[in-house]
Amino acid sequence: MTTSTLVTHIGELTTNDPGWDQRDGLLGLVEDAAVVLEGDRVAWVGRAADAPEADAYVDAGGRAAIPGFVDSHSHLVFAGDRAQEFAARMTGAPYTAGGIRTTVAATRAATDEQLTHNVARLVAEMRRNGTTTVEIKSGYGLTVHDEARSLAVARQFTDETTFLGAHVVPPEHAGDPAAYVDLVTGPMLDAAAPYASWIDVFCETGAFDEDQARAILDAGAARGLRGRLHANQLGPGPGVRLAAERGLVAVDHCTYLTDDDVAALRDSGTIATLLPGVEFSTRQPYPDARRLIDAGVRVAIASDCNPGSSYTSSMPLCIALAVREMRMSPSEALYAATKGGADALARDDVGVLAPGKRADLVLLDAPSHIHLAYRPGVHLISGVFAGGRPSE
Ligand code: NIG
Ligand code: FE
Repeated sequence: MTTSTLVTHIGELTTNDPGWDQRDGLLGLVEDAAVVLEGDRVAWVGRAADAPEADAYVDAGGRAAIPGFVDSHSHLVFAGDRAQEFAARMTGAPYTAGGIRTTVAATRAATDEQLTHNVARLVAEMRRNGTTTVEIKSGYGLTVHDEARSLAVARQFTDETTFLGAHVVPPEHAGDPAAYVDLVTGPMLDAAAPYASWIDVFCETGAFDEDQARAILDAGAARGLRGRLHANQLGPGPGVRLAAERGLVAVDHCTYLTDDDVAALRDSGTIATLLPGVEFSTRQPYPDARRLIDAGVRVAIASDCNPGSSYTSSMPLCIALAVREMRMSPSEALYAATKGGADALARDDVGVLAPGKRADLVLLDAPSHIHLAYRPGVHLISGVFAGGRPSE
């Protein structure tokens, strides 16, 4: 028999359900709220005074509650770190995609057990920070064997796995990038596809160009993998327009955009996933979230957790950066980190607290969601239910 838990005396509940009070126009806020979790689903949402009986009770004591964060972009399958590269950058060295090769070498040298242990550590860290759904990419293996095992490791933790064999051209193929694209679209895709839901390309100068990205997305689509792109991170380029033209669900980074890029995103409905941890950690200009939102582009926020450009697993940090540095409102940032992330993964069962949705709920040690941005660097996650189960 499934048991039910009533989480009650929630001071401010963010539902992301448009059926509720639209006081702030976005979050579907309910005050003096309660939620009933039954099995792995939400069974009931409403005012505490109207709550039904349940098998167990959790008294939120006036704390705020939000949907679990949906982190739609991470690279957790890797070994080693790049602390020295970070230190050098903080004293003036530029960020380049070349550092990826350092992690590729360490990842190839690691055992499956070491990779699994590292992913488990980071997923647990994410959970402590309120993330209940995570997408995980490969991309530090870059051989048939190492990409397939990276995805097999990732699949133990999430169904949202992404094949990123086209991260950079590895050193052994530096003289013949076309041969590497043939490998990615052929044997590597064959080996990776059983463990992947998505396919991604780093479409950027120094990584893969537009024609290569098209070929890789086409090959993935033929194997049933939906496309997403890393694009316009380090400079202007064709990636964002390509994503919009193909109607991809999401295109990530979106730091350097022309007016045409913005219009293409608006018209296609492709979600721009913004990754403020990257600009924070590489000292680059932040994407212009205000310009995107004001133009009617849908946005998500994700951590991009990886050892090079953004070694944070904290969605609260990303929210604080989005508000402070990208001029998003606290409501916009929270929505982008929950429902926005769900949309960026084409998931309609997470990112919203409503009957029938997954019971992914986070209690904040704060009276309002605004504190996520207002109190940067303070651990405000005081309880996490993932699929109805409380974690620590
Ligand atoms: O999303 N842009 C490309 N890939 C990663 C960086 C990976 C790395 O530096 O190791 C990113 O930022
Ligand atoms: Fe990334």
